[in-house]
Amino acid sequence: MSFLNVFKNSLPWVHSPLIANAPMSGAATSELAIAVTLAGGLGQIGFMDDIRELSKELQFARENLQDLMATLPNPQVLPIGVGVIVFGSPMEAWMRLFKTHQPAVVWLSFAGTDEMRKWTEAIRQASPETRVWVQLGSVKAALDVEQACHPDALVLQGSDAGGHGHQNGASIVSLIPEVADTLLEHGMSNIPLVAAGGIVDGRGTAAALALGTSGVVMGTRFLAAPETHIPQIYRDAILNASDGGQATARSRVFDEIWGPNFWPTTYDGRCLRNKVYDQYASGMNVEKIRSWLSTAMNGPGSESLNIQDMGSIWAGTGVGIVRRMERASDIVRDVREDALKRIDALARRN
Ligand SMILES: Cc1cc2nc3c(=O)[nH]c(=O)nc-3n(C[C@H](O)[C@H](O)[C@H](O)COP(=O)(O)O)c2cc1C
Repeated sequence: MSFLNVFKNSLPWVHSPLIANAPMSGAATSELAIAVTLAGGLGQIGFMDDIRELSKELQFARENLQDLMATLPNPQVLPIGVGVIVFGSPMEAWMRLFKTHQPAVVWLSFAGTDEMRKWTEAIRQASPETRVWVQLGSVKAALDVEQACHPDALVLQGSDAGGHGHQNGASIVSLIPEVADTLLEHGMSNIPLVAAGGIVDGRGTAAALALGTSGVVMGTRFLAAPETHIPQIYRDAILNASDGGQATARSRVFDEIWGPNFWPTTYDGRCLRNKVYDQYASGMNVEKIRSWLSTAMNGPGSESLNIQDMGSIWAGTGVGIVRRMERASDIVRDVREDALKRIDALARRN
């Protein structure tokens, strides 16, 4: 089996190369997941604190994917992925959810190796048909997780990614080959690799495949899709941003500004750059920035504040290439077809 269709058995509805939407907490709900799956990608629902709400989302997805499911070898398996932010999540409640809904993929992120191992084992017991994918952002984490958990795929998240990720990271251009070499040296090169971070179109997808992955995950690109649940003002800020490396920044301040930061110190996050970030970078302490923000938001002149200053708008460096709203199904098909065309052109050297 070619490395491009390694998901043929586990995700039989998926067209090659695999295109998935990132399970973006709060933004990727069943509506997006259904649209991406029906376009032959892996649709995913993002982490929710409220497991009852998530259960309703999964039920809605099941109702809307009935026709597709009836054509699949195992019609009980729900052809979508579910994201879990592992640290702080109650494992038993999640396992009950997985047992009931049998998602095709559970995507684990943000925890140490030991916790990842416990979750992987528990998921396999609760729902044996479910494949466990782990997202991580360093060579060491990839090796440790592969050795301890043997997940079904490793999602390698580069530092261009929007949202949370490893504070000390590398772009996928160096991360993926180093992870692949390291796994090979340890005799563990069979695991499918999936790329995430800065990929927004067929060019990035073709590049990620050339780096040795079997598919890509996009978050920022799907923020432009109407099926993604974000306020229009947030989407407009994404569509208007340009020069992604300048327009976004990685920092822990995006979590610290709203109260105690519960995120483990390994992680920070990439957002649209704003006044909060600029003040923090110039040395102002968080207490002072909080008090400035509260006065600015509630006092006279608040109308001059930018939407980016009033909330943390998570987005990756690819944001400058995302220019217009497009349906999720069009995004999946266009990116897939363009990537294949580019690979063919490169193979023919024209
Ligand atoms: C708005 C937003 C929310 C995100 N939420 C999550 C999350 O809940 N869990 C997770 O593992 N990753 C999350 N991510 C990171 C994605 O999984 C993925 O690594 C990232 O979107 C890839 O980079 P890109 O945004 O450049 O495509 C989020 C990303 C964004 C943009």
